[in-house]
Amino acid sequence: MDRNAPIGVFDSGIGGLTVAREIMRQFPEEKMVYFGDTARVPYGNKSKTSVIRFSEQIIRFLRTQEVKAIVVACNTASSYALEEVRKIEDIPIIGVINAGARTAAAVTRNRKIGIIGTAGTIGSGTYGNVLREMKPGVEVFGKACPLFVPLVEEGLLEDSVTDEIARRYLGVLKEKEIDTLVLGCTHYPLIRSTIARVMGSSVTLVDPAYETAVQLKTLLGSMETACDAGRELSAEEKYSFYVSDGAEQFTAFARTILPDVVKKTIQINIEEY
Ligand code: DGL
Repeated sequence: MDRNAPIGVFDSGIGGLTVAREIMRQFPEEKMVYFGDTARVPYGNKSKTSVIRFSEQIIRFLRTQEVKAIVVACNTASSYALEEVRKIEDIPIIGVINAGARTAAAVTRNRKIGIIGTAGTIGSGTYGNVLREMKPGVEVFGKACPLFVPLVEEGLLEDSVTDEIARRYLGVLKEKEIDTLVLGCTHYPLIRSTIARVMGSSVTLVDPAYETAVQLKTLLGSMETACDAGRELSAEEKYSFYVSDGAEQFTAFARTILPDVVKKTIQINIEEY
């Protein structure tokens, strides 16, 4: 394995850039190939079979880029497909669920944890299963918040409409007196301040992105596949962005999350993989 090969990161679209951003912050010298499946987003309301098929295709594409490890930077794909793809691939693949669950298990004091995510992530029950295994006796309350993704994609990050919808979705979790809430969807960190305001200061918000990057660091370290130190590469040399549709729109949105990093985006036909 070439230790200076890139890390592959994928999501159903733009949301995984919140995870990519954290990986870039914690690994400034590593190269990255990001793929956003913008033609088939959202994954949150697709079947498990479809999400597994999409994930397998994307991994086949990323392997043509000779990545040394893959991060499934999408909660829905991590919930549905991680186990499956790990069975067939021979490079390390990590998702975001374990990371989010681990942080939540560590920070909860009253053992009541809320999870918000897409209908797929919440319906799969994966966060709950992982959390109960990590911390027996924990109570887990899931709530699907399907309107959050389109609100973020419309740019309504600080808006009275988003506030109102957040109050409606999150009211039920407040009633359960949770003290920890996992932002179990890649888009939600972008409306973190709204969610924090609605939940109040007694609830700790967990963004799995940070812990995912920490896990990746441990993994690359243990496999001795971290890149050589001291490389001085430009953003263009280090990072490549691919999508399945709407390259220009992706570039414009990505620049709001990662200024000065996204120079261009290449569109590919993912159905060919
Ligand atoms: N990236 C997805 C996730 O984290 C959210 C968007 C979608 O539904 O595809 O679950």
